Amino acid sequence: MSGKREQWASGHGFVLATIGAAVGLGNIWRFSYVAGENGGGAFLIIYLLCVVFVGASIVFAEMALGRQASGDAVAAFENSSPGSRWRYAGWVGVIGSFLILSYYSVIAGWALKYLVGGLTGILWLAAGEGFGGYFNRFISNPGEPVAWQMAMLAATMFVVAGGVQRGIEAINRILMPLLALFVVGLAAYAATLPGSGAGWRFLFVPDWSVLLQREVYIAALGQAFFSLGVGMAVFITYASYMTRETRIPLFGSAIIVGDTLFAIVAGLAIFPAVFAFGMNPEAGPQLAFITLPQMFLAMPGGEFVGPLFFALLVAAALTSMISLLEVPVASVVHRTRLNRWGATTVIGVAVFAVGIPSAMSFGLLSGIQISGRGLLDFIDQTVSNYVLPLAGILICVYVGWRWDRSTALSAADLAGKSVGLIWLWLLRLVAPAMILLILFDSTGAL
Ligand code: PHE
Repeated sequence: MSGKREQWASGHGFVLATIGAAVGLGNIWRFSYVAGENGGGAFLIIYLLCVVFVGASIVFAEMALGRQASGDAVAAFENSSPGSRWRYAGWVGVIGSFLILSYYSVIAGWALKYLVGGLTGILWLAAGEGFGGYFNRFISNPGEPVAWQMAMLAATMFVVAGGVQRGIEAINRILMPLLALFVVGLAAYAATLPGSGAGWRFLFVPDWSVLLQREVYIAALGQAFFSLGVGMAVFITYASYMTRETRIPLFGSAIIVGDTLFAIVAGLAIFPAVFAFGMNPEAGPQLAFITLPQMFLAMPGGEFVGPLFFALLVAAALTSMISLLEVPVASVVHRTRLNRWGATTVIGVAVFAVGIPSAMSFGLLSGIQISGRGLLDFIDQTVSNYVLPLAGILICVYVGWRWDRSTALSAADLAGKSVGLIWLWLLRLVAPAMILLILFDSTGAL
């Protein structure tokens, strides 16, 4: 263990870094394709309900857990329940974030390739063969996706090795405000396209019949967890670097509102354009990589808007990757003699190695199919829809029931506030019940 624990320079820096963790590929790439596949407006309503009634209370709980521990994710449980098996709940976060990072970095690598391709003009040359063919040729290449994945991981490792203040906080201070500007600008631009109204209607006018489909609920729950970044000890770890005077209710709300608004505005950048150019919103994970370049090519100014969009995707992905890497790195620094540089190198290389099969899952390893999905797709669906919600239940039970009421309320800066009781009961009953209901229902057990 190394001497004094690192801290954020300011509350402001902490909020930007946590929003950076929450806002990522989940808000742009994943939100647009999952909302597209699940009917748009009606999906958005269930998604918002999941954020408010399930995700939000767990964000506060993770922060409360992390700040009181001022240690890694495992210490968050160990310190308040020495010797108990609850420490394994901490390990779920450490291993889970490692796993997510392993395939997340692959998709981030795709975005980087498209950014570089858009800037150099190589991407637009692909118009001849069609962007579908181009994308498939790229992701089925045995080496290329691995190289781009490595580039994104190297950048992430560089920032994390720089430390909490000089690495993580510094980059988020620059990138997050830029990102907010970018996405609002793109949405405003998309609104000027003729025919864009259909995209707004797709996102805001619900087709109620969608509510009869049970897959929509699990998709919305998984998306809420993934997009908030909750359940993987990211907020536990980031909150462990908080100074005492910072206020959890205010900061937690900023993250929840920020993440949700970002997803909606990103949807307003994507769907109006998708409809304006007569594309299919149900294209699946390829939406951002096949449909959108086609659209950029067709729109006036697309050769600038395209790279801007992929820059947005890369920057958003990077700040989330940093948070995912920080969770296991914090544990290694806390538990071994390695310093931050050493821990970052060891974990970074291990993540890269574990991620290689995901990077190859559309090429050499495309033969491996689990319940009809390729490797990357399968891991993403399983982690988001099952592992994250189940880890969420552990946090709910620990903070809601294992801690007594006054400990929990004061750990979350909610003592003596009436919203404190609402939070506590969301955590104790509403959130676990909703998670279990949706999980059982989606497996057909109900
Ligand atoms: N929230 C991030 C995104 O939307 C992904 C993430 C998941 C980050 C889990 C941390 C933990 O892209």
